[in-house]
Amino acid sequence: QTGYFTYDPGFLATASCESSITFIDGDKGILEHRGYPISQLADKSDYLEVCYLLLNGTLPDKKQFDEFHLTVLRHTMLHEQLVQFYKGFRRDSHPMATLVGVVGALSSFYHDSLDITNEEHREIAAFRLISKMPTLAAMSFKYSTGQPFVYPDNSLSYAGNFLKMMFAVPCEEYVVNPVLESAMDKILILHADHEQNASTSTVRLAGSSGANPFACIAAGIASLWGPAHGGANEACLEMLEEIGSVDRIPEFIARAKDKDDPFRLMGFGHRVYKNHDPRATVMRKTCHDVLDDLNIDDPLLDVAMELERIALEDPYFVDKKLYPNVDFYSGIVLRAMGIPRTMFTVIFATARTVGWISHWKEMLDQPGQKIGRPRQLYTGEVGLEFEHVVERC
Ligand code: SDX
Repeated sequence: QTGYFTYDPGFLATASCESSITFIDGDKGILEHRGYPISQLADKSDYLEVCYLLLNGTLPDKKQFDEFHLTVLRHTMLHEQLVQFYKGFRRDSHPMATLVGVVGALSSFYHDSLDITNEEHREIAAFRLISKMPTLAAMSFKYSTGQPFVYPDNSLSYAGNFLKMMFAVPCEEYVVNPVLESAMDKILILHADHEQNASTSTVRLAGSSGANPFACIAAGIASLWGPAHGGANEACLEMLEEIGSVDRIPEFIARAKDKDDPFRLMGFGHRVYKNHDPRATVMRKTCHDVLDDLNIDDPLLDVAMELERIALEDPYFVDKKLYPNVDFYSGIVLRAMGIPRTMFTVIFATARTVGWISHWKEMLDQPGQKIGRPRQLYTGEVGLEFEHVVERC
């Protein structure tokens, strides 16, 4: 019995920790952050308010939010030497490669937020990371294009500031498109946290050793990069482009069902959801809204919708409870917004930073917290006698 729930012993045996941040019921397709359904947060809140909720456990009143917002704005810029750090990467590096490197390098700059035993250090580290991730992410993109970095503009919203740092150029005025700003804010909310997924578990495990917060978040970014996890949005768009048209869908459905074929439907299936991922439902609507508002007719949306329809009627997917997940539509929305696909997972990492930090802080605040140490079932040899190489051949 923990809080509202009584877990069966089988589930308890698999649980890696106790947490009050995010609740998922995979069978019912429920996702709640601190008790609030994701659909309500996506519809009525904004990303910074959701950050406050995830970090502090309750929604802020106006004074609390204003103070939180002011502190976030204080940390949006980077140390100039860190800006130089990008120059060590090849221009054609994947932005996730530069992001992993630069976030890890924060450990060598911000010595007032490395001591995890110091509550103040932990607090500053959380703000630094949430504030700087859009700046770091946008700079990873600008660096790959050869365009000059654009510094943060604190007069803009969190999402608007990120879009400006991504797309503004010194020779022209940049005005944030409210359609893109609203869609980006929603995408950030939908990716903010998701309980003990692979990258959050990576951050918790790294943090349990006492590693500094920047090193832990760099580890989370590395874990998120894989196509089975945060890299699925980029992989899903590539899959939709490879399918190309609705008449080729049956060929790919057959491949996804073929046990001898490693191909899987990107954006489909989930370790926990055996029902619709509630984020995918919001993302699908956002996709239609953005394409309608921008008057874009993207044939890949037709392919995605037909692929979803066919798969949801196919006994293979129905029996295995495979549904579209958050990554199925996000690539189409981001593409419509003019975001290059190499930035899809970077945006996922930017959004998820608050989730990683919230879990990291929750773990460190728990009394008697010990270093994580997963155990194994050993299947190798035992008790062999060593022979020198001359005796072995
Ligand atoms: C994210 O954990 C999180 O919370 C992650 C995340 C978050 O917010 O942090 O939600 C973000 O990572 C979403 C998932 C993004 N990944 C993809 O969309 C990649 C495509 N999906 C698959 O690779 C897969 O569904 C996984 C990796 C997500 C889950 O794989 P599992 O654990 O094998 O899924 P499962 O146990 O439910 O699979 C049941 C069966 C298996 O076949 P059998 O062994 O029973 O014969 O379904 C098959 C799987 O092989 N299957 C698929 C499939 N996903 C699972 N077959 C075809 N296409 C797929 N997409």
